[in-house]
Amino acid sequence: MSKEQEPSIYETHKCRLLRKYQLTDLESLFLFRFEDPGVAQDWRFMPGQFVEVSLLGLGEVPISICSSARRVGFFELCIRNAGRVTSAIHQLQPGSLVGIRGPYGNGFPMEQFHGRDLLCVAAGLGMAPLRSVFLYALDNRWLFGNITIINSAKFGNELLFQKELEAMKDIATAENISIVQTATRDPDFEGLHGRATVHMDKANVDPKNCAVAMCGPPAMYRGMFDYLVEKGYDPRYIFVTLERRMKCGVGKCGHCNIGTATSWKYACKDGPVFDYYAITSIPGLI
Ligand SMILES: Cc1cc2nc3c(=O)[nH]c(=O)nc-3n(C[C@H](O)[C@H](O)[C@H](O)COP(=O)(O)OP(=O)(O)OC[C@H]3O[C@@H](n4cnc5c(N)ncnc54)[C@H](O)[C@@H]3O)c2cc1C
Ligand code: FES
Repeated sequence: MSKEQEPSIYETHKCRLLRKYQLTDLESLFLFRFEDPGVAQDWRFMPGQFVEVSLLGLGEVPISICSSARRVGFFELCIRNAGRVTSAIHQLQPGSLVGIRGPYGNGFPMEQFHGRDLLCVAAGLGMAPLRSVFLYALDNRWLFGNITIINSAKFGNELLFQKELEAMKDIATAENISIVQTATRDPDFEGLHGRATVHMDKANVDPKNCAVAMCGPPAMYRGMFDYLVEKGYDPRYIFVTLERRMKCGVGKCGHCNIGTATSWKYACKDGPVFDYYAITSIPGLI
């Protein structure tokens, strides 16, 4: 392929919104389909990667892909109504078109996880990328040992994908999959209470042979790192996703630069997934 024919890293694809499903007061799930059949056939992503969603005349926002990487031609985004662009996305009706660039970022190294138990720990919106990790493990069940997912939110009605996970529970138990959902600040919630660390005893995994994928606020990472290392989890297999303000999404603008002058990374290109050693050795990562 000549240089002129190489696709630009900024190439934007038209995608049609097929379905919109309200998950919580603030978040909805959006199902998109690529308009171009060629793109629909070839487009692939890894769990933990994100896309830039653009609305003409309004701007772009980075959003994690939350669906199964197995689905061809379709993908889902769980989007919080947070501001200018995301509120406009929430107003879209099925049939509307958006622009999609990506997938960008490194994603979770799923192949390194093969053969190990898997522990996913999500807080709040962190459940969006981790849903994709979890679905990957379900789609490739034979490649993993025992699986635990801990989904947490401040309030019970803020738990993302709560009904979906609840509905999987019976079959999950038979498949050595443990699903834990907990509200951290909701005395009225009828399910479990407390942070993820409080429920780690429900994780049916072997710390020495377990890969850990986490997504949530930095405060959660600090607490979880201490807990996991103390319990004997292998730091080489502990991964988290980091969120930073982004513009280009491809390592060109410097907007998402983190670290110091001698040791730095671009969250969009080197991340958003980082391992335990990167997180603990680069100042400012969390
Ligand atoms: C790699 C990555 C993955 C993401 N995945 C998701 C996802 O799956 N679902 C989802 O709903 N959101 C996700 N976000 C956050 C999302 O990109 C922001 O909420 C969005 O850019 C806000 O744009 P806006 O124009 O709607 O809001 P604005 O009007 O620009 O801002 C509204 C409010 O949100 C704050 N804000 C803006 N951008 C960010 C940001 N990156 N982090 C934290 N606060 C921000 C602003 O300070 C302001 O308070 C992700 C961000 C990154 C970097
Ligand atoms: S967003 Fe431009 S370098 Fe990361």
